[in-house]
Amino acid sequence: METQKTPMLELIDIYKSFGDVEVLKGISAKIAKGELLTFVGPSGCGKTTLLRIVGGFAALDSGQVILDGEDIGKLPPNMRDTKMVFQSYALFPHMTVAKNIGFGLKLQKWPKKKIEERVGELLSLVHMDELGDRTIDRISGGQQQRVALARALAIEPKVLLLDEPLSNLDANLRVVMREEIRNIQERIGITTIFVTHDQYEAMSISDRLLVLHNGIIQQIGTPVDIYEQPANEFIAGFVGYVNFLEGKVTAIADETRTVTVFTAYGNLELNHSQFDKSEKGDEVLLVIRPETIPLSRSDGPTQQNTFNGIIESFMYAGNFVKYTIKIEDKEMIVDQYNPKDTVKFERGDQVKITVPRSTHVLPKNTAIEHV
Ligand SMILES: Nc1ncnc2c1ncn2[C@@H]1O[C@H](COP(=O)(O)OP(=O)(O)OP(=O)(O)O)[C@@H](O)[C@H]1O
Ligand SMILES: [Mg+2]
Repeated sequence: METQKTPMLELIDIYKSFGDVEVLKGISAKIAKGELLTFVGPSGCGKTTLLRIVGGFAALDSGQVILDGEDIGKLPPNMRDTKMVFQSYALFPHMTVAKNIGFGLKLQKWPKKKIEERVGELLSLVHMDELGDRTIDRISGGQQQRVALARALAIEPKVLLLDEPLSNLDANLRVVMREEIRNIQERIGITTIFVTHDQYEAMSISDRLLVLHNGIIQQIGTPVDIYEQPANEFIAGFVGYVNFLEGKVTAIADETRTVTVFTAYGNLELNHSQFDKSEKGDEVLLVIRPETIPLSRSDGPTQQNTFNGIIESFMYAGNFVKYTIKIEDKEMIVDQYNPKDTVKFERGDQVKITVPRSTHVLPKNTAIEHV
């Protein structure tokens, strides 16, 4: 019986170079049945290359691709139980929507009646029941995207591979379509690899993200892991803005589960649970998210981890105000949500900020150069 522990797809130590350029340097990952995993990372980091290796459109130098227990790493694309949707969709423009969706079934010599039935099901799945007889050149970009998806799903592959499937769509349609892809994927329970360079798209569509950079997996984890427990400086800066603050562990109090860190602002008291085997004297990097920092008037009560600062500038964005605050010659970005019901500060105002005890901490040596 299939369990969570039996992966549908397993990548084992995959290496790939183009000439002298080593693009993938030992990629290993397990993808569970029904899971949606997203490959994400900066342009040129090797996402498409890795996806093409899974689909059989690029050869690997070494390593293995195991699909449902079988090593498929050397098989041609049409011998693999995977189906790839290319960025360009690669539909036949003068053929009807229905013929495009049924194309693979026709190649597999399905009887005409069965093809019609299956195409009908798929048209309904992607909400295009009325459009089966239209040719591709007479439907919109979003509709083409749905046809490409339906065509890939027609032959019921074990794994669906989607390379930036939303990149041709405008911003609003992207959001609608990504929700639709996720709904369909969950409803039919198909194991899916989704590729995007858009961090927010990756966060919102995935069960887990595989973040690639410099040829290696920087972190593989749920959106919550990636955002709240980033494994290194690159990941911390990858989604959303963070304030980085260097520090040194000066005391560890087991009884109060508190670690004291000396920083440019002064001493900070942080939760013990954020420290992974840190010792006194260790250099650390604090990852402080702008939305986690309470902001108050300078005459408010002083609490633990509270520091005085001056508003340098602000940007009103409706649902939040982004403040740049100067504290001890260092700038900190603070986002204050729901500005309608909170005090709005002006340039030059004296304020107090509080660094939360739950602030995420990285060992200093995980710093990776940003690109
Ligand atoms: N056929 C090829 N020959 C030579 N170099 C290639 C080839 N395909 C890809 N590369 C190089 O390999 C690296 C990874 O490319 P890849 O297309 O996988 O990146 P990507 O992460 O998908 O980027 P993007 O977000 O821009 O689509 C790049 O440096 C690219 O120039
Ligand atoms: Mg790509």
